[in-house]
Amino acid sequence: MKVLGIESSCDETAAAVVEDGRAILSNVVATQIPFHKTFSGVVPEIASRKHAEWILPVVTQALREANLELKDIDAVAATNRPGLMGSLLVGLTFGKTLAWSLGRPFIAVNHMLGHLYAAHLHEDIAYPYIGLLVSGGHSMICKVSDFDDIEVLGTTIDDAAGEAFDKVAKFYGFGYPGGVIIDRLAKQGNPHAAHFPVPSLHKGDHRYDVSYSGLKTAVINQLDQFWDPAFEKTPENIAAAFQETAVRILVSRLLRAAADTGLTTVVAGGGVAANSRLRALLADHSELHCIFPPLKLCTDNGAMIAGVGYRFLARGDKSGWDTTASARVPAFKRGLARGRESPRLN
Ligand code: KG4
Ligand code: ZN
Repeated sequence: MKVLGIESSCDETAAAVVEDGRAILSNVVATQIPFHKTFSGVVPEIASRKHAEWILPVVTQALREANLELKDIDAVAATNRPGLMGSLLVGLTFGKTLAWSLGRPFIAVNHMLGHLYAAHLHEDIAYPYIGLLVSGGHSMICKVSDFDDIEVLGTTIDDAAGEAFDKVAKFYGFGYPGGVIIDRLAKQGNPHAAHFPVPSLHKGDHRYDVSYSGLKTAVINQLDQFWDPAFEKTPENIAAAFQETAVRILVSRLLRAAADTGLTTVVAGGGVAANSRLRALLADHSELHCIFPPLKLCTDNGAMIAGVGYRFLARGDKSGWDTTASARVPAFKRGLARGRESPRLN
């Protein structure tokens, strides 16, 4: 079954064709970064306009690269939440219209399920495991029992991990988006040049939660207090010291979650999962088996949406034509850390 997946929740216009939830026949990502760079962040109005301009050429390219015609597509999946409302509506409306006109089923996909599924496009992974979803908009540690059975253990109580990378990079004028630039700069810096505070959330409700606003403020405003006078405050050292703390926060929560649940497999997803230091640090923890998607599947893409779409279809689920977009994160089950809510995925 060949599913066309469309992703337009933020600043990438993306489309891909995936066969049977696994084989990527094409994966086209048109990034809007050059248009948002000047503003050091995503400008929602520019994003939706670019999606509207690019969606047709991107989908056409995805079909061409897969050597397929529209009639060969068995179903269409598109991200419907969470994200920027105007951006989501472009991909969702395009996807629904295409599916309807082709007489094929349509599946609305939650972007977060997409990020968590990305690694499954690359290798077979058995459930359950600990999921680490770290992107520009979200930071979530969860127990993943199936592709749509997610029990949230912890989230960020303030900034998302990627947001912290982006804000630090913006403050120091490193460039946009910050994550990949800080990752690159840090390779030449000393991670011990400064000792930034790690949030001490360790009790009850917040046991698996993360926090980045304190670290961000420390890096931006109170540098002297934490800085080792033996080191120069170069961009490389700032990047390395910030990054070291940022990823150690995530690793500490993963170790806690693994110890408490008895699960040793960790599957990462989202833009920050591309971080080289996070990957290296987790590789040093032999008590965990960490699986990362290839770099291209960490950041936003249509393949992860097609993959999840296939899994819903294979189970006999599809979405109604009245499915709309939502900027908000859906209510996932909250277990271990908090009271339970029913999952609402579409
Ligand atoms: O998943 P994604 O493409 O979009 C969202 O759903 O947010 O993630 C984008 C985020 C940005 O904040 C970017 O700075 C961060 O992922 N990012 C990284 C790296 N590559 C991208 N953060 C740390 N290290 C990286 N190598
Ligand atoms: Zn994303």
